[in-house]
Amino acid sequence: MRAAVVTRYGAPEVLALREVARPTPGPGELLIRVKAASVSSGDARVRALRVPEGMGLMARLALGWSGPRQPVLGTECSGVVEAVGAGVTRFRVGDAVVAFRGAAMGAHAAYLCVREDGSVAPKPEGLSWDEAAALLFGGTTALHYLREARVKQGERVLVLGASGAVGVAAVQLARHGGAEVTAVCSAANAPLVTGLGATRVIDYRTEDFTLGDARWDVVMDCVGATDYARCRRVLAPGGRLLRVVCGLGGQLAAPWQGRLSGHRVIAGVAAERPEDVQRLVELARSGEYRAVIDASMPLSRIAEAHARVDSGRKRGSVVVTLEGEA
Ligand SMILES: NC(=O)c1ccc[n+]([C@@H]2O[C@H](COP(=O)([O-])OP(=O)(O)OC[C@H]3O[C@@H](n4cnc5c(N)ncnc54)[C@H](OP(=O)(O)O)[C@@H]3O)[C@@H](O)[C@H]2O)c1
Repeated sequence: MRAAVVTRYGAPEVLALREVARPTPGPGELLIRVKAASVSSGDARVRALRVPEGMGLMARLALGWSGPRQPVLGTECSGVVEAVGAGVTRFRVGDAVVAFRGAAMGAHAAYLCVREDGSVAPKPEGLSWDEAAALLFGGTTALHYLREARVKQGERVLVLGASGAVGVAAVQLARHGGAEVTAVCSAANAPLVTGLGATRVIDYRTEDFTLGDARWDVVMDCVGATDYARCRRVLAPGGRLLRVVCGLGGQLAAPWQGRLSGHRVIAGVAAERPEDVQRLVELARSGEYRAVIDASMPLSRIAEAHARVDSGRKRGSVVVTLEGEA
């Protein structure tokens, strides 16, 4: 089968399309024929070994020294069940599904195997393959952080980087939970984020949200553009700072920061939970949550897709399509 392969860290040009062995589903596993997969900021980080400050050594140990041990990237996909292993009861051949592989990756290939009791769910009807393929990377991250912050109905939530994949999910999920959402993004993306539920937009290019009189119960930084020292004065009593992007020093300091002021700082890797995948799919099915697609292109243009992600300017998600790949 065809797959996009990375054997050494580097620029998008290190990606190559190769023939690799097609996996066989073991007991309890599904073989999915991939229709579409997102190219996430996580994929681009692994390809380039571009990790937050202080994490380089740990990243090489975890991912591979000179190139990723898992050469096929791709954290999430939509597709069709091609075959099932022994004992599979929840899915049948021909079912349309979405799957989240998270850090295990492997979705930039014509086929992949997932456990039926893992992060896989029926594809919501009415969504295109592209839309279904981009529900889970940003969605699971946003759900994790909003849950850790215990966001309550009526709280004021500011999402910094509201137009990225994590940001568009955070705006929708915070709003769905009854929060009042302020989105920080560039002016061009204001219509997008208000359409997703933000009631106020701050253009980060002309206004610094940390300098005004407004206060927030939760500040969620999805781009790594701020820290506790800068946010402290705009956090309400009991406020939480969510540092989705944070270097090693910030992660080590997080449990202690803000205590004297009655604040909390939350950082670290988002948990991968199958129940979050089911929840996001339910919300997508009922029209309360959707993916935003920045661009879609065939797998043969995977390097271009990575370059778009590297730009740091994508709105929502970049998707590659695998129609016709085998
Ligand atoms: N902790 C975890 O477990 C975890 C999980 C998933 C992702 N992440 C990290 O979360 C980050 C976000 O991921 P993503 O996929 O959402 O990123 P992304 O889609 O690449 O974010 C791009 C968006 O950010 C906006 N942006 C850039 N600089 C900004 C700034 N200073 N203020 C406000 N908006 C800004 C851009 O808008 P403009 O073009 O208008 O500037 C663009 O729409 C990544 O660094 C990723 O590695 C962490």
